[in-house]
Amino acid sequence: MTTLAIARAKIARKEQLLCRRKQVSVKTRSLIVGTATYIPGLRSLTGRRTGGTVSARYCYSIWLRHLLMLHRSGQPTTFETIAELGPGDSLGIGLAALLSGAQRYLSLDVVRYADNARNLRIFEELIALFRDRAPIPDEAEFPLVRPLLRSYAFPADILTSARLDVALHPKRLELIRFAINNPATSPRGGGPVCYIAPWEPGVIENGTVDLVFSQTVLEFPHDLPGIYAQMCRWLKPGGIMSHEIDFKSVGITVEWNGHWSCSDALWRLAAGRRRHRLNREPHSTHIALLRRMGCRIVCDERVVQPSAITRAQLATRFRDLTDEDLTTSSALIQAVKPT
Ligand SMILES: C[S@@+](CC[C@H](N)C(=O)[O-])C[C@H]1O[C@@H](n2cnc3c(N)ncnc32)[C@H](O)[C@@H]1O
Repeated sequence: MTTLAIARAKIARKEQLLCRRKQVSVKTRSLIVGTATYIPGLRSLTGRRTGGTVSARYCYSIWLRHLLMLHRSGQPTTFETIAELGPGDSLGIGLAALLSGAQRYLSLDVVRYADNARNLRIFEELIALFRDRAPIPDEAEFPLVRPLLRSYAFPADILTSARLDVALHPKRLELIRFAINNPATSPRGGGPVCYIAPWEPGVIENGTVDLVFSQTVLEFPHDLPGIYAQMCRWLKPGGIMSHEIDFKSVGITVEWNGHWSCSDALWRLAAGRRRHRLNREPHSTHIALLRRMGCRIVCDERVVQPSAITRAQLATRFRDLTDEDLTTSSALIQAVKPT
């Protein structure tokens, strides 16, 4: 163990005692893993997989939720160019969007998780789901996925037969298969699929995208003002954002919102140098950033859960959290860029 790791382990022990006194419950395992990430070489063992998008049914379910909610918010459901932030293990959610008629899909991640073989497998499974007009997989199959919907029937009023006939035409599918095998690495490269990981600011030209979406991603970036400014620049005037954001502590604390009770020092140990560390920003930060850029919020579907911690337990930095923030465990936020 390096001197730094030994010092961190001692601090972790002290913080554990402090936790007990304040009744803050970072899981012991989280502290061990978080502290271990300071040991050279161990950080890369965290975040090797992202989970959901290895399943075509998950990708289908997520894309159709964004699409249905856009429809419910009175927004368009046909797009020329779409961009996704943080696709994870496969590009499946964006591929589902292409199968719904989108012309071009730009996919940006900080880590290159997806590979062509998995993307192709998911694509073939997605084609079958769309051809069958399969119902949207619901909370019985994916209990943690949000938002919940009123109906999980296939949205035949949005994805009409005429629309799907064009989108699923064999020649078009061949073109997309070719693009999945040869994804462009720059939006200037043309083609229906572009995958850039890691991505850098300025990679997408201003005013070229119709829809930017993400699923359980925006709880991670630490430069949220910068990320929102980027996304807003990519959008055409009147373009739309659709983001599902999870505000829970991703299992680091016993309580779903226990991360807001951790001092910065304790959080540095518990989250450590994991590849993906929560930014711990609450719901209102996202709404404020969108408004600051002049975007109009058209959907703010919050999941409200009783707080599992008392106000007295909140860390100094979070002492002024509103009751609404303290009890919002996730939200689907959709917003329109001014024209
Ligand atoms: C919890 S996973 C979600 C993956 C996928 N969206 C899903 O629904 O399964 C979070 C993803 O966000 C990505 N991510 C984190 N920060 C990001 C950033 N600043 N820009 C793009 N992607 C980011 C991670 O690399 C990871 O792929």
